[in-house]
Amino acid sequence: MTGDPMPDLRPDVPHGARIWNYWLGGKDNYAADREVGEAVRAAFPETAAYALKSRQFLNRAVRYLAGEAGILQFLDVGTGLPTMQNTHEVAQSVAPDARIVYVDNDPLVLAHARALLVNTTPEASPGTWTPTTGSPT
Ligand SMILES: C[S@@+](CC[C@H](N)C(=O)[O-])C[C@H]1O[C@@H](n2cnc3c(N)ncnc32)[C@H](O)[C@@H]1O
Repeated sequence: MTGDPMPDLRPDVPHGARIWNYWLGGKDNYAADREVGEAVRAAFPETAAYALKSRQFLNRAVRYLAGEAGILQFLDVGTGLPTMQNTHEVAQSVAPDARIVYVDNDPLVLAHARALLVNTTPEASPGTWTPTTGSPT
């Protein structure tokens, strides 16, 4: 892990990744995120529903690719905050040797990932985000 400073979480300011996390039923969000999430849901109900449908599609696609299609390497760009079913969990549930590299340009997402996924990445080294198995590239 790198010594990057922890980003200012600013729980009082709504944050896109945390609002998305709220719509997915995650716990990594604050009152300000939930308030905006509900306001958007009220104005555009399909938007919040889209978050869940999108995640469900991603999980179905990864399960198919790791299983039937035999794909063992995944690059998850725009990972978002970790949720109950992260890409590596879905892929490795059908292909234990699957490797996943997560990429996100939001320092808040990185901070959460390091805190929540650290035990899944014992081989991770500085400069990489969360390769789930094997050596980072
Ligand atoms: C709507 S969330 C999607 C989360 C997750 N992929 C899902 O399906 O639930 C989009 C994520 O993409 C990230 N993102 C946006 N633009 C990006 C870029 N150019 N490079 C890397 N990550 C990016 C954001 O920080 C955010 O965490």
